[in-house]
Amino acid sequence: MSVLEVQDLAGGYPGTRVLDGVNLSVADGAVLSLLGRNGVGKTTFVHTIMGMLPGTGSIRFAGEELIGRSTYQIARAGLALVPQGRRVFGPLTVEENLQIAARNARPGKWTPESVYELFPQLADRRANRGSVLSGGEQEMLSIGRALVTNPRLLLLDEPSDGLAPSIVNLVGDVVRSLASEGVTILLVEQNVALALRVATETAVMSKGRITFRGNPEELRSDDGLVRDLLGVG
Ligand SMILES: Nc1ncnc2c1ncn2[C@@H]1O[C@H](COP(=O)(O)OP(=O)(O)OP(=O)(O)O)[C@@H](O)[C@H]1O
Ligand SMILES: [Mg+2]
Repeated sequence: MSVLEVQDLAGGYPGTRVLDGVNLSVADGAVLSLLGRNGVGKTTFVHTIMGMLPGTGSIRFAGEELIGRSTYQIARAGLALVPQGRRVFGPLTVEENLQIAARNARPGKWTPESVYELFPQLADRRANRGSVLSGGEQEMLSIGRALVTNPRLLLLDEPSDGLAPSIVNLVGDVVRSLASEGVTILLVEQNVALALRVATETAVMSKGRITFRGNPEELRSDDGLVRDLLGVG
């Protein structure tokens, strides 16, 4: 059963078509790693799913069409995005960042308190402003903000970007543990090692289309594709 079913999705920016007919389905409970080189349209894709950019075609989530809905409605339906670059509110404290995200949230186990249990380092920082956090702490906060909405489908856009290896591992562990609790994950990554470590399924985007779909073993065994994704050769 697919929880997310994207068909013939086109979109982009005024005067620039970026998504050129994306077809992608994500199975319920999957961790789908979406790989692709710089500028192919990965962020445009997740922003279009979240209703932050207009699109044409179809995006069905649990059978319901998301095209034409507002970002607020899409979040209420159970989708949440951990954006590229984290985007925490710098002037607000950790606690305020989480509380704002938790307003109007869907019911569920995730609250600011359960986020602090997941990331004890964040609990120590709860009175600090977002702007003084380390990159790793900002990533934890950004993940926490998404979790307090109690999503059914979590979209993560390059969470490992710029982080130390220990934090990258932590992000990978969190993704796996969320998946084991039944959250479906769409992980956009350029870190091929992380993407393959956590994925149950993989896809590759190039120039606004999905050009590879398979399980992690199939991707790993395609040397040419992996070299291309790593940007070598
Ligand atoms: N606000 C914008 N206005 C116009 N064009 C944009 C805008 N944002 C991105 N683009 C263009 O859209 C294309 C896809 O960008 P996008 O950010 O979706 O790529 P990406 O795959 O996420 O790349 P990266 O891995 O570097 O994050 C690029 O050519 C980019 O220059
Ligand atoms: Mg991007």
